[in-house]
Amino acid sequence: MNQPSTTQHPEPDLTATQRDQEEESVHRALEGYYRAGKPPWDTGVTPSELVALVEGHSALPPGRALELGCGTGTNAIYLARHGWEVTAVDLIDRAVDQAREKAEAAGAAVRLLHGDATRLDELDAPGPFDLFFDLSCYCGVPLHRRDAYAAGLTHRAAPGARLLMFGYGPEPLGNPMPEVTSWAAGVTADELRARFAGWELLDVTPGTNSVPTFWFTLRRDA
Ligand SMILES: C[S@@+](CC[C@H](N)C(=O)[O-])C[C@H]1O[C@@H](n2cnc3c(N)ncnc32)[C@H](O)[C@@H]1O
Repeated sequence: MNQPSTTQHPEPDLTATQRDQEEESVHRALEGYYRAGKPPWDTGVTPSELVALVEGHSALPPGRALELGCGTGTNAIYLARHGWEVTAVDLIDRAVDQAREKAEAAGAAVRLLHGDATRLDELDAPGPFDLFFDLSCYCGVPLHRRDAYAAGLTHRAAPGARLLMFGYGPEPLGNPMPEVTSWAAGVTADELRARFAGWELLDVTPGTNSVPTFWFTLRRDA
């Protein structure tokens, strides 16, 4: 299914200082959520879309997976328990610390890395990966870092690798944090097609949220 066509936000022409400020405000906002306690997205429940990919009738065979923006690790642990060799990355150290504790308690072998999904070269995550999973990370990444995100995954993708991504559409919430300007952009199918050269957008399925959300499935060319 195709995502309804939406107005693309033009990429703002930011100075280097404005780019740094944008990244800092994203970091600050995310850190605030984790510092305040349990962030609203931390449901502890693995979404059925990932379960279908891992356990469904045409499940992928287990291989290497990289989770971008893993939060407290619920889905990285799920993948590890289902035979995947998992590396998981998050920008916020508190999230990674909690994910480590959860993985240890669950007896799940997950490589947890504190770092930036748009700067994978700075991390020890060489791949190649057969599956990338992103539950609401990319849609919050500042626009000027998104090409680097796509390049990092493309560089680490095994032939035919999948990317399963959940994201918010543009401005679904009227941007509750106006200081984080990039959060109004969300993610669209058109954007992913344009940014992920060498990948095919296989599927776009609307989420069940009260605001526009989408599950995107992409496949790296063989
Ligand atoms: C909406 S939360 C979802 C967390 C987790 N996927 C879940 O569903 O519980 C987005 C996560 O992505 C992380 N994140 C945002 N930008 C990131 C980046 N550039 N690199 C790595 N993680 C990032 C945030 O710290 C946060 O944990």
